[in-house]
Amino acid sequence: MDLTGRKIVLGVTGGIAAYKSAVLVSRLRHLGAEVHVIMTKNATEFVSPLTFQTLSSNQVVTDTFQAPEYWNVEHVALAKLADIFVIAPATANILAKMTAGIADDMLSTTVLATKAPILAAPAMNTGMWTADATQANVTILKERGVHFVGPDSGMLACGDEGAGRMSEPETIVGAICDLLNPRRDLAGLKVIITAGATRERLDPVRFITNDSSGKMGFALAEAARDRGAEVTAVCGSVSVPVPEGIRTIRIESARELYDVMIREAPQHDIVIQAAAVCDYRPAETQSTKIKKAEGQPMILTLTENPDIARAVGELKQKGQTLVGFAAETDHVQKNAKEKLKKKNLDMIVANDVTAPGAGFNVDTNIATLITKNGSETQPLQTKRQLADVILDRILDLRK
Ligand code: PMT
Repeated sequence: MDLTGRKIVLGVTGGIAAYKSAVLVSRLRHLGAEVHVIMTKNATEFVSPLTFQTLSSNQVVTDTFQAPEYWNVEHVALAKLADIFVIAPATANILAKMTAGIADDMLSTTVLATKAPILAAPAMNTGMWTADATQANVTILKERGVHFVGPDSGMLACGDEGAGRMSEPETIVGAICDLLNPRRDLAGLKVIITAGATRERLDPVRFITNDSSGKMGFALAEAARDRGAEVTAVCGSVSVPVPEGIRTIRIESARELYDVMIREAPQHDIVIQAAAVCDYRPAETQSTKIKKAEGQPMILTLTENPDIARAVGELKQKGQTLVGFAAETDHVQKNAKEKLKKKNLDMIVANDVTAPGAGFNVDTNIATLITKNGSETQPLQTKRQLADVILDRILDLRK
């Protein structure tokens, strides 16, 4: 990653995550960037402007300070200077102001005036993030081309748990580098990715399912999209929004996923199967709600679902790269290697779903990438970072 000579304007708004932005400035400077910080009045309550001034080696602009003389022009000087405009942390308030075009302080004025790409790293309480108003603002801003990184999920400063944590500085740096130096190494390739869990219906109100939020599959879809691929996501039940700019096919059951993949997979250069597919389904699906039989145990007969990855492996096309995932709790690598062979995959990504920070629902993962030539264990990192590593290795395999 190299940002030598790149001019980054960082808007810091009022939230406890502002302290992480100090680390962000330090990292950006280390990569060679010229960083200019604008703080809102509330941000200065959390971190002193002197911290950012020291780390950036530039005057910090706040509403309480005079614009430095070397700017020599009006309040939009930084708007014109920016190669990229980053807002981290971005509160619900600044997102709302940006949506409405309100310019009532230095940050909102400058961001309104800029023509540079804008990257927002939201940080707020879960209730504020999921509020209809905030989500509507985010949708509008995305439609206008504003880029977002995060928020991540986890324990928040207010004690609540859920989405709203600002992404880690490393992740924000990665997003800045991707925007300033976009890699287009997947341009011209068609990639299909399965994500989320299948649901196998017992009756109109009940189903059995697997765990899966869709985060790993969508991280892959986003990374492949950003690197220039034409991406199709085939998704079952997911708990996060489908990324923008991706063709989406919705499925519910493993048999629906099978039908889609048999039809679609042969037309794609790269097939990545991150979905958590139920190996079994109820032998019968009732058309009306099964009534409770008081005091009686309910005995459920399950029947085997098709092995989709195996069927796709049997149809493998010349020049096609097939990647599967293995969600394991024990004998992780041994079980994954067997799946690699049985399903005719080029690579399998084994994750121990019992390891803290790995597997289902979380924003991070720990995985071992296994091919017939060997294996490589990747440390704990965000699913987006792991997605880029997986795509790098896929490209290596295709050389
Ligand atoms: O969605 P997240 O919350 O981010 O969680 C990510 C994840 C843990 C779901 C993901 O990283 C993962 O491991 N996905 C694979 C889950 C799984 O079903 O593993 P498996 O070991 O049971 O299956 C092995 C492979 O065969 C997978 O590629 C699976 O898609 C495929 N499969 C499984 C069963 C089946 N009947 N047909 C299949 O094609």
